[in-house]
Amino acid sequence: MAPIRFWPDILSVASYTPGKPIEELERELGITEAIKLASNENPLGPSPKAVEALRQAITGVHRYPEGRGTALRARLADRFKVSPDEVILGNGSNEIIELLVRGFVTAGDEAVMADLTFSLYPLMVTVARGTPVKVPLKDGRHDLTAMASAVTPKTRLIFVCNPNNPTGTMVNAAELTRFLAALPESVVVVIDEAYVDYVTAPDFPRSIELRLSGSPVIVLRTFSKLHGLAGLRIGYGIARREVIAYLDRIHQPFNTNQLAQIAALAALEDDQHLAASRRVNDEGKVFLQQLFAELKWPVYPTQANFLYVETGRDAKALYESLLRQGVIVRHIEGSRLRITVGRPEENQRFAEALRAVLSG
Ligand SMILES: Cc1ncc(COP(=O)(O)O)c(C=O)c1O
Repeated sequence: MAPIRFWPDILSVASYTPGKPIEELERELGITEAIKLASNENPLGPSPKAVEALRQAITGVHRYPEGRGTALRARLADRFKVSPDEVILGNGSNEIIELLVRGFVTAGDEAVMADLTFSLYPLMVTVARGTPVKVPLKDGRHDLTAMASAVTPKTRLIFVCNPNNPTGTMVNAAELTRFLAALPESVVVVIDEAYVDYVTAPDFPRSIELRLSGSPVIVLRTFSKLHGLAGLRIGYGIARREVIAYLDRIHQPFNTNQLAQIAALAALEDDQHLAASRRVNDEGKVFLQQLFAELKWPVYPTQANFLYVETGRDAKALYESLLRQGVIVRHIEGSRLRITVGRPEENQRFAEALRAVLSG
């Protein structure tokens, strides 16, 4: 019998590594109170309004969801002053990243992205037999000039993660506008704004307005972060009609589930939960920044709900020592750790665990 033909390109990629699940660590350590500051989730949990809507909706799950998520698309369109046919829903914004790659990238094509940025971009592009073209960050920020120079006739997509994961840094409105003006109109620009709801900088781009500029722009957002619905998997993209209609041909029917659509609609209206979540993040950020300042560990200026910190030592070993203290953070490369901002008591617990590890 002939052996299975695994594609070497696909075998060459490391599958996406999610943060370690809290239950797994608790089982390993035989404890019940591990904390997870690793996956940039909302530490306050889901919007209570979404939870109530879910309770009421649960008896309706024998029905297929609204195929195109009409109600949620309309609500998002209204909120962002676009037309519903400029909105696409995804099973998390991750799915829309995949749709974009499937729709635009094939063997021999290139996609330009930062190095370092969200690890799913190169993974998806490689799986599609395309080539990720990685442009080093400059001072921890996207180097848009170098990214524009990296565009070739083979370039199909450009990813701009804003704020960037894992650094938390942003590009501002003037920089983004200048960048878009320098690009050929054949290249689709993906502006991934998964963390936009935490941004406080006044000069952050109003990127949805850019969808009609020369280059086709798609702005990706998610309910997984500030809205606290990561487990339900729902995100969205906003772009000009022709791009949305194209992506709509690619995804599965019923790609976003009914409970996720209903919870998202409720979470959008939960101003109290959104404000409380922002407050906890802003305060936690200050607490963690002070901690790292005391340790003299440089931190990138973050506009998101996480901090990327230079520890000056083997961060994987540090990550593992913190695990033994029941604290999960994220080690991505070298001497740096990414820490999601938690509730005050979680931040405190992290600080204590870190001090214990460093003095041990
Ligand atoms: C930059 C970025 N984009 C997209 C996502 C995925 O979001 P979703 O849960 O909507 O798939 C994440 C999640 O961590 C992210 O960091």
